[in-house]
Amino acid sequence: MKILLLGSGGREHALAWKLNQSVWTNPLYIAPGNPGTAMCGKNVQLDINNFDAIRKFCVNEKIEMVIVGPEEPLVNGLYDYFKSQKELQKIFFIGPSKTGAQLEGSKAFAKAFMKRHNIPTAAYKEFTVDNYEEGVKYLQQHDLPIVLKADGLAGGKGVVICQSHVEAIAEFELMIQEAKFGEASKKVVVEDFLKGIELSVFAITDGKNYLILPEAKDYKRIGEGDSGLNTGGMGAVSPVPFATPGFMYKVEERIIKPTINGIFKEGIEYTGFIFFGLINVNGDPYVIEYNCRMGDPETEVIMARLETDLVGLCIAATQQELDKIQVRADERAAATIMAVSRGYPMGFEKGFEIKGLDGKYGKQSLIFHAGTKEEDGKIVTNGGRVFCVTSFGKDIEEAVNTSLDVLEYLNYDGIYYRTDIGYEFKPPSPKGGLGNNL
Ligand SMILES: Nc1ncnc2c1ncn2[C@@H]1O[C@H](COP(=O)(O)OP(=O)(O)O)[C@@H](O)[C@H]1O
Ligand SMILES: [Mg+2]
Repeated sequence: MKILLLGSGGREHALAWKLNQSVWTNPLYIAPGNPGTAMCGKNVQLDINNFDAIRKFCVNEKIEMVIVGPEEPLVNGLYDYFKSQKELQKIFFIGPSKTGAQLEGSKAFAKAFMKRHNIPTAAYKEFTVDNYEEGVKYLQQHDLPIVLKADGLAGGKGVVICQSHVEAIAEFELMIQEAKFGEASKKVVVEDFLKGIELSVFAITDGKNYLILPEAKDYKRIGEGDSGLNTGGMGAVSPVPFATPGFMYKVEERIIKPTINGIFKEGIEYTGFIFFGLINVNGDPYVIEYNCRMGDPETEVIMARLETDLVGLCIAATQQELDKIQVRADERAAATIMAVSRGYPMGFEKGFEIKGLDGKYGKQSLIFHAGTKEEDGKIVTNGGRVFCVTSFGKDIEEAVNTSLDVLEYLNYDGIYYRTDIGYEFKPPSPKGGLGNNL
């Protein structure tokens, strides 16, 4: 099967690595890919937001399956475009319709969807310039902290948690009146703050059936102990110790089933991955957000643990036959640690040679490229998040320590990574470390 994977980050390297193991895959193209994906298939220079260019490539190369890594083309309607073009209609497409992608592309759409289907989530109200004054009053009497969310895609920066009313009203004004996030913040969702610990649950769905993939927890802050600025993600672990069978039963009954049923009842075309960003509040799961694709860096631990053939899963999804297969996962724990550029997530320099990538680190570790590129036969840094090291272990601690060992041998000017990924799940250190044994 001729497969085209769209995207170029660590998530896509992990997907390409997994797709490349399937007997179905022949060949695998990645657009635009990175030097890591080039080891799993053929990179092609395509702008993934140029639908016409994607069409031409698919027709010329007789592509049979398209898998979309990032959200942007989905939110912009790539699925609908494929269905509207006669020569593309038969291609198996992994990714939701434009309406389905609104679960990620519009926070207000997602909240209203959850309300319609009684899915537990924080209470909220939405505001625009039309009910701006009402919004200010609402904020004034709201309990602290207050969560403000730009409705549209804002590159992971559109959510602000405000600790005072003054801050909330100022932020609200910036978002709505000054278009702080452009079109994305013309509408703002204000929601109650939920206190708990977050986790990421993924499923693949055909719009009717679903299969749950291994869960993960990601680490978004730049600094140790979850301090400092938010990033695209500094690491992830899987499985998540507090995702016990009892907790996951609640997740499935209260969240996953009503979500997929809601998609089905509303006639939303959705074949692909769905991400449930959840928070565990005193043992009960609530939805923080949906994403219409896999997460990054969660994919880098989930694909490592997934034993089921990924192409087989995707084919079953396109045939509405997900009820006929099962997901198998490696029982070992996996942890990934992201190496980033000095200065990230603020300004940083690129173009530094990465040394040690070709080392022999053993089967228990994998290196996934994110922001890298080849220059004069060398691999150099080309982004804030540069690459990640995923390792297996009998538990999270062992997996993290193995990735840390491998990272010792990798280097570039300005390398930085967190050494405390998975800290909540490590036994308390006798010397008094970060572990607190959740
Ligand atoms: N209602 C909430 N209560 C507590 N924390 C929240 C709430 N909503 C969002 N957050 C925090 O803000 C982060 C970003 O919010 P999210 O809705 O996931 O937006 P995005 O990923 O699109 O930036 C979440 O991972 C979570 O840590
Ligand atoms: Mg999020």
